[in-house]
Amino acid sequence: MTQPAKPRIPVSQPYQWGNEIPYVTKALRDNWISSAGEFLGRFETEFAKYCNVRHGVACVNGTVACHLAFAAAGIGPGDEVICPDFTMMAPVFSIMYLGAKPVFVDADARSWTIDVTKIEAAITYKTKAILAVHIYGHPCDMESILRIAKKYNLTVLEDAAEAHGADVQIGGEWRRAGGIGLAAAFSFYANKNITTGEGGMVVTDDDGIAERVRSLKNLRLGNTNETRFIHDGVGYQYRMTNLHAAIGCAQMEHADDARAAKIAIAEQYHSLLANIPGVALPPSCEWGRNVYWVYGILIEDEFGVGRAETQRRLAAEGIETRTFFYPSHRQPHLIQQKALAPSPDDAFPVSNRLWERGLYIPSYIGMGDAAIERVAAAIRAIR
Ligand SMILES: Cc1ncc(COP(=O)(O)O)c(C=O)c1O
Repeated sequence: MTQPAKPRIPVSQPYQWGNEIPYVTKALRDNWISSAGEFLGRFETEFAKYCNVRHGVACVNGTVACHLAFAAAGIGPGDEVICPDFTMMAPVFSIMYLGAKPVFVDADARSWTIDVTKIEAAITYKTKAILAVHIYGHPCDMESILRIAKKYNLTVLEDAAEAHGADVQIGGEWRRAGGIGLAAAFSFYANKNITTGEGGMVVTDDDGIAERVRSLKNLRLGNTNETRFIHDGVGYQYRMTNLHAAIGCAQMEHADDARAAKIAIAEQYHSLLANIPGVALPPSCEWGRNVYWVYGILIEDEFGVGRAETQRRLAAEGIETRTFFYPSHRQPHLIQQKALAPSPDDAFPVSNRLWERGLYIPSYIGMGDAAIERVAAAIRAIR
């Protein structure tokens, strides 16, 4: 007799805390189903407060949150923006939507975020901004980034799509990731610690940026009856619906619980996966508090089985995993388009290594001890 297949453990899945259905139902019953309604304002206010800034502007996803934030910050044709080579590509594409050029800097081996010691060498007279992308829940070394930006008079932008609620130390004070640069982009995709299904937000403390983002996301419509259809420039239609914001409001009621749940899963993995030769655990640097959006591990030679084979063996056990990001400087399309500053592959040893060795394992709110233990045991059994 064949063994029954073990239940699949997904790499991620959304978690509903309780008020998602009642709030969406209320929005439907009230007939506020488009891009106005009580939940939108409430979600924006609560999320901005969570980041300790004054403005939140909701939009349809994290990619357009990047586009809006960078556009409002004045990034445009001919500008260069310093960004990490090891990143999800949405912020890179957003720089390119604006006719600006991404200039890649290798990852730091300790935090997997941008290597701040290599930023200055990438600055030219065209550099307009440094983009800090917080990776897998671990914040960038923002104190160093702010210092460099000040020295060269550059704008600091953040992509905090992967780091809801992460904290970072600046001048001895803990500050919220996403509340530090001129503007920050967030994603609320279904795998994020706080989700609206699809969704995004730009947060900022700057009144002018907030106003520009609001206008840009709404086609730059005029704001009086007389001027409504007179546009002061090219805009976008990137509005979030009240239905999505209703989900966001329900999620915000448990924002701290969500963060605590992800950290608790990570702590369980830390102890269950400790001391497996050849398995390196995710980073935790003194300047930041990792919220472990995903739990990434590196498969080193000592493990005896490579990253691809490890993934295959876990898949055979019903355990889903994902590879790490592909280094930006190797993206074939960017190379073909000659969109990159000339950058030899060996200028990115850490990013290349993360791609070759990294995978992330299941970690989602509500996962439960049994599933966590099954994943850890399956990894241990491979060796
Ligand atoms: C760093 C980063 N930026 C932007 C995005 C894009 O967000 P979205 O999928 O909501 O467009 C993601 C998505 O995972 C991300 O990881």
